[in-house]
Amino acid sequence: MAIYLALETSCDETAVAVVADGRRILSNCLISQMQLHQTYGGVVPEVAAREHLEDINSVIELAMEQASVKPSDLAGIACTVGPGLIGTLLVGISAAKALAFAWDLPLIGVDHLIAHVCASYLESDLQPPFLALLVSGGHTQIMYFSDFTQAEVIGQTIDDAAGEAYDKVARLLGLSYPGGPEIDRLAVTGNKTKFKFPKASVDGYDFSFSGLKTAVLRCLQKLEQPWPIADLAASFQATVVNTLIEKTLAAQIKTQAPAIVLAGGVAANCSLRKDLISMSPVPVFLPKLNLCTDNAAMVAAAAAYIGRTNETQSLTNKAENAYLTAYSRSKPRRKNC
Ligand code: KG4
Ligand code: ZN
Repeated sequence: MAIYLALETSCDETAVAVVADGRRILSNCLISQMQLHQTYGGVVPEVAAREHLEDINSVIELAMEQASVKPSDLAGIACTVGPGLIGTLLVGISAAKALAFAWDLPLIGVDHLIAHVCASYLESDLQPPFLALLVSGGHTQIMYFSDFTQAEVIGQTIDDAAGEAYDKVARLLGLSYPGGPEIDRLAVTGNKTKFKFPKASVDGYDFSFSGLKTAVLRCLQKLEQPWPIADLAASFQATVVNTLIEKTLAAQIKTQAPAIVLAGGVAANCSLRKDLISMSPVPVFLPKLNLCTDNAAMVAAAAAYIGRTNETQSLTNKAENAYLTAYSRSKPRRKNC
């Protein structure tokens, strides 16, 4: 059994987890800075990095304790190496390097986007190949996974990410950060056909969401107060969800992928989960809600599969380069289809 300890500090969550064989969660601990950043309406990178530094050691201790493992039980230490906020990433990378050195264990660098998709290996029997729709606060991509951590990008946003559109529209509506869960909650009681927001026409499997945000703004400028917030939320959400599903299903037909994986923070969206399952001709794998948003269990899951192929990495054996090598190997590349 290969047990990995993983650290995730790419944004505003200080997360540490212990996972066996990339599938079984032994512990999954997290301190969220969400409330702190709510005051500013978004994540402040320097504040986030300092908070990670305060919290990282206690979250590592907690994760090891809850998993009931000793350093000698571990097959390696994993950490997110990008993409993310550079200051926050450095806290996790430095802590992971220190642990790998102190405990004489291999260090595995993990791409954050690949990790989001690997959340679907946890507590499931998902096997590649499959198509993944990754929708987070910073990224929106359709990827084809030919192997556990090997992916090619088939389509991506040319401007705002889906989560970013949620957060920006929520702000226009006067809702708090992060906007996705707020809009999701309000949309349940709203009429999604009340407002017709335009779907961007972008070639192939790429997306664009910045025009949608502007369309909501123009609409609000014409509306009298009080705004029908629930109808606005439902209409905006329907446009985003329809666009995401339309492109994903088209990519599934093109690639003939035998399964679809939904990943990233926006994968927690009720309507996206429900509609994708009902419309997909192939099985859909969805992580549990707490595994959609940033967490370290997904990083440990990715590490288990990267570790299988790069067994020689270790800190004493040029690990500084090892994590970068692993990162560039697992980083998704663009595929034209
Ligand atoms: O993956 P994630 O935790 O962090 C990044 O890597 O970006 O994603 C955060 C994003 C935020 O934009 C947040 O508004 C969005 O995921 N989000 C949601 C929902 N829960 C979180 N968007 C729509 N519906 C939700 N239920
Ligand atoms: Zn993320």
